[in-house]
Amino acid sequence: MKIAVLLGGSSPERYVSISSGKGIVKALGDLGHDTIVVDPALGRNQVPESALFSQTVGDRPPVDEFMAAMSPRNYLTTVESQLFDDVDLAFIILHGKWGEDGTIQSLLELRSVKYTGSGVTASAIAMDKVMSKKLFMHHGTPTAEWFDYRKNSVPRPELVKQEARKIGYPNVVKPNDQGSSVAINIVGSESELDRALDEAEEFSEVIMIEKYVTGAEMTVGILGDEPLPVIEIRPHEGFYDYKHKYTKGMTDYLVPAPIDKSFSLKLMEMALKTFSALGCKTFGRVDFRVGTDGIPYCLEVNTIPGMTETSLVPKAAAAAGMSFTEVVDRIVKLSLEGK
Ligand SMILES: Nc1ncnc2c1ncn2[C@@H]1O[C@H](COP(=O)(O)OP(=O)(O)O)[C@@H](O)[C@H]1O
Ligand SMILES: [Mg+2]
Repeated sequence: MKIAVLLGGSSPERYVSISSGKGIVKALGDLGHDTIVVDPALGRNQVPESALFSQTVGDRPPVDEFMAAMSPRNYLTTVESQLFDDVDLAFIILHGKWGEDGTIQSLLELRSVKYTGSGVTASAIAMDKVMSKKLFMHHGTPTAEWFDYRKNSVPRPELVKQEARKIGYPNVVKPNDQGSSVAINIVGSESELDRALDEAEEFSEVIMIEKYVTGAEMTVGILGDEPLPVIEIRPHEGFYDYKHKYTKGMTDYLVPAPIDKSFSLKLMEMALKTFSALGCKTFGRVDFRVGTDGIPYCLEVNTIPGMTETSLVPKAAAAAGMSFTEVVDRIVKLSLEGK
């Protein structure tokens, strides 16, 4: 089969995507597929995969003039181009805006190219943390208390400060639609609030202030209609930010998580239920903070989680006895079946 691996993109997670794509291209090759590598941010100026694969993730999101200058229209010209003329499947391993939020998915729909992962609507909802939380509540998945506002639509600082005070300190300030902890800050006191809001507003139109959940961090990968073993994530210091996500040795991953069987089954069941409630399919990952009250508070659902060989979903799959190549094979097969 001829598979186009879509990677890169113009979100701050560009290099995370490229790093995942590298392993996927190799796995697809091992499975006997022909692959082409396509970076939709480059439009008509595609480069050889060796040029893309020489990039590294780094310990912070890139501030890249090249990326800032990229035109969103490139996504359109890329998908319209002859690159897709004889492609059987697009394997999307883009993260963040335009890649994980339903945009590229809708272009591929219009082009009648089959693609991996969740569809347009589910991708858009899962990328929107506030909308997702409203659905979590509707479906009985616990989620931490929060306040959200649209940039420039409410008086800052008065009203926002007042709402933050109701939520209490520490709290967590996030842009509504980014990933990899980009522009997320744990705010210890009111004096730090403004700076955190400024940073989040640089990355999103909608900002949320969420109650800090003291406790443990757990995540559940999903493959098809099966939840994978729970992973507990323990960053060596601070929280699970970009640096702790992508720098080797800065975080411990315990898989299967050292929790009792009934709790782990409960988390897995809750993860699958929540994933399906948002309309997601094929593969993904559901992030939780388990409070000291024993309640798993759902943070978010990722429809295109990191897929380097050491990323969380492949780690969880390995604990279930599945190799990285088998995971990639499953994603291809499920996607072709529309599951
Ligand atoms: N309410 C919270 N309480 C405690 N830690 C949080 C909370 N929200 C986020 N975090 C920390 O920030 C990280 C990233 O948050 P998350 O909502 O999953 O966004 P992202 O899409 O960037 O992964 C989490 O993995 C966790 O370490
Ligand atoms: Mg997360």
